[in-house]
Amino acid sequence: MKKILVTGGCGYIGSHTIVDLVENGFEAISVDNNSKSSPRILEGIEKITGKKIKNYKVDLCNFDDTFAIFQENTDIVGIIHFAAFKSVSESVEQPLMYFENNLVSLINLLKCVQEFNIPYFVFSSSCTVYGNPDVIPVTEQTPPKPAESPYGYTKQMGEQIINEFSKANPSQSVLLRYFNPVGAHPSTLIGELPIGKPANLVPVITQTAIGRLPQVTVYGDDYPTRDGSCIRDYIHVCDIAHAHTLAVQFLINGRSSKRCEVFNLGSGNGVTVLEAIKAFEEVSGVALNYTIGDRRPGDVVAIYANNEYARKMLSWATKYTLADMMATAWKWEQRLKVDEKFFQSKSYDLN
Ligand code: WQD
Repeated sequence: MKKILVTGGCGYIGSHTIVDLVENGFEAISVDNNSKSSPRILEGIEKITGKKIKNYKVDLCNFDDTFAIFQENTDIVGIIHFAAFKSVSESVEQPLMYFENNLVSLINLLKCVQEFNIPYFVFSSSCTVYGNPDVIPVTEQTPPKPAESPYGYTKQMGEQIINEFSKANPSQSVLLRYFNPVGAHPSTLIGELPIGKPANLVPVITQTAIGRLPQVTVYGDDYPTRDGSCIRDYIHVCDIAHAHTLAVQFLINGRSSKRCEVFNLGSGNGVTVLEAIKAFEEVSGVALNYTIGDRRPGDVVAIYANNEYARKMLSWATKYTLADMMATAWKWEQRLKVDEKFFQSKSYDLN
């Protein structure tokens, strides 16, 4: 079996991707210092796949510790790099922490790619690189706008670093620009573990519905959209995960003609905040307590993907509907109500 190193393997998208990789015949190992995730997620992955996944509890900003992983695993054929801080608001408050963590970890990894001649590298990027697009849906050729946050800049800079690295080295890369990943694995054994109060819409919805939050504040209904609320491209985390497996296969099978390819990973459907709330209410049967509030600074008015290039080149198709996204997110929230202590009991065991 071909071995793939997944950084951030205990995280939301990383854990779902490990499940998909294993189900498609790959061997996966994880590196995750659990600063923003719980090692308990690995137990969920094992229950789904029957495979025990080794996690190296290493901070990728420590070069020597990162290098040692590759010395111990000389049969790694590819890397999927998720590990990064990803809170837009936190990045505005602590820009240096974001630039250091997200860029030093990437550069350390790329030094190892160079040293150990790792042939393939897949990078977790984001639709944030497009900023507020003039034309939607966005394609991979839509010119990036200035980022709206230091987090967004780390994704733009990360793409540039990998692009230049791929020109100067034999390894090939793929940049995957996620739109809004939501939902959870249908087994409800893995899902998103927001730390503290969530910023993203769907966890706020499910935590409100379960009674952990008092209400959802819709950040503005006076935008120039069909119902006044912002438009986003919500996509199920399992569809995102499978695209990573397909991207690795795309590289391994020699189907990439470029040093560095870029793909939009969105459903291709624009959904407003109010439509997302309605979809949740229909699926859950819960009448959501929400109110209209002020706009949130930095919010993009409307963005959704033209995903034709990824569909064509990766033979990728999304399987999950908006209703599936809401149903699996809701089932996961209901599970957390029972088991949250289970995840927290080891997630902060940093020794
Ligand atoms: C979605 C919409 C809010 C919360 C961010 C990152 C992006 C990616 C996904 C990592 C917006 C509205 C939200 C709430 C609301 N992350 N909203 N009330 O900002 O589109 O994208 O997360 O890769 O890079 O930028 O996601 O879920 O925060 O917001 O009205 O309590 O929901 O205004 O219109 P966003 P989000």
